[in-house]
Amino acid sequence: METTVAKVNAVTIPRWFDRHLHVRDVDMLRNVLPCTLNQRAIGAVIMGNLKHPDETSTIEKAKGYRWRIRAMLGILQTFGVTTNKDFEPRMTCYLTDEITPEEVVRGFKEGVWCGVKLYMADQRGLGGTTNSGHGVKNLLGRYPVFEAMEREGIPLLGHFEAVEPEVDEFDREIVSVERDLDPLLNSFPGLPVVFEHITDGRAAAFVAEVKHNIQATVTAHHLMINRNEMFRNGMNPVHFCKPVPKREMYRLKVREYVTSGHRRFGAGTDSAPHDESAKMRCYGCAAGIFTAPTAVELYTTVFDEDGALEHLGPFLSENFLGLYGVKVSKETMTIERKPLAVPQKIGNVQVFRGGTELPWTLVG
Ligand code: NCD
Ligand code: ZN
Repeated sequence: METTVAKVNAVTIPRWFDRHLHVRDVDMLRNVLPCTLNQRAIGAVIMGNLKHPDETSTIEKAKGYRWRIRAMLGILQTFGVTTNKDFEPRMTCYLTDEITPEEVVRGFKEGVWCGVKLYMADQRGLGGTTNSGHGVKNLLGRYPVFEAMEREGIPLLGHFEAVEPEVDEFDREIVSVERDLDPLLNSFPGLPVVFEHITDGRAAAFVAEVKHNIQATVTAHHLMINRNEMFRNGMNPVHFCKPVPKREMYRLKVREYVTSGHRRFGAGTDSAPHDESAKMRCYGCAAGIFTAPTAVELYTTVFDEDGALEHLGPFLSENFLGLYGVKVSKETMTIERKPLAVPQKIGNVQVFRGGTELPWTLVG
């Protein structure tokens, strides 16, 4: 006898939390912050790689940036741009070679930041991604910081990619897993680590299987596109981000862990807005994909395609939130099977999948 599975037409889950978000500053902040607010997020881990070097690399700077975000929230609420009243920006410490273990711990204890963001740079100060050139050049030199973080339970939020120009672009993540991450975990077995925006199936297998306290954020775009999408019908800067999308078999492997409900994987959009003029350069196109306007709908589409809607709630709204000091929301949000037209642009920023339709809509 044929069994029929009723098609699910609505999903209700706790309000979600974006574990990795770029909202920039000033004008860009005003333009893009409403997107995440209107996606009903209870908060986000704000990545502070602003233009002006390491804007969140000291307690004072991180407080200043948090103040600017909160002020913008107030303005957006006052002018009725959003009804989201309780969005909480969770700041990160941009790790440099200079900051002391004492300041890292103090910033955490004073509630200024919820974790430490690791970007790596090479000896000339060339980073592997947007505004990361002030990141760590000497990882071993930062071991005293990691030791203090392990002692205090401060999460390390790591961009694990080799930055040396000679390393193949598509292998940068796995090279860094073997060279940087594995020894780090072995030296600090109690250090809580989040592997940011994981893209490579081999790295995902490492996260899923290793015995240490490690979890990974996954973007919507890395679940949806492989590296061909950067080159389809000509170059597509809109699909260029760091880490670069990988080959299909690795995308599918990451997706398998995510939609099978593995608890070590959670949503972090890495929504990274860049002005069109920065994306449309023949040389030096800026890395970053802007998904904030429809993040929830994109993730829902992925879980639905894999017949795994029951795992959407934990992935978006529960998995390892305690690590950031965030509680699972008691409020819910509902996503309905109803077409959603994705805007082409927000301000001057091209939106991922802009001009197409998604099959799901966040309705409230
Ligand atoms: C991010 C950005 O633009 O700030 N870009 C990106 O491609 N993801 C930086 C980052 O997270 O690597
Ligand atoms: Zn990022």
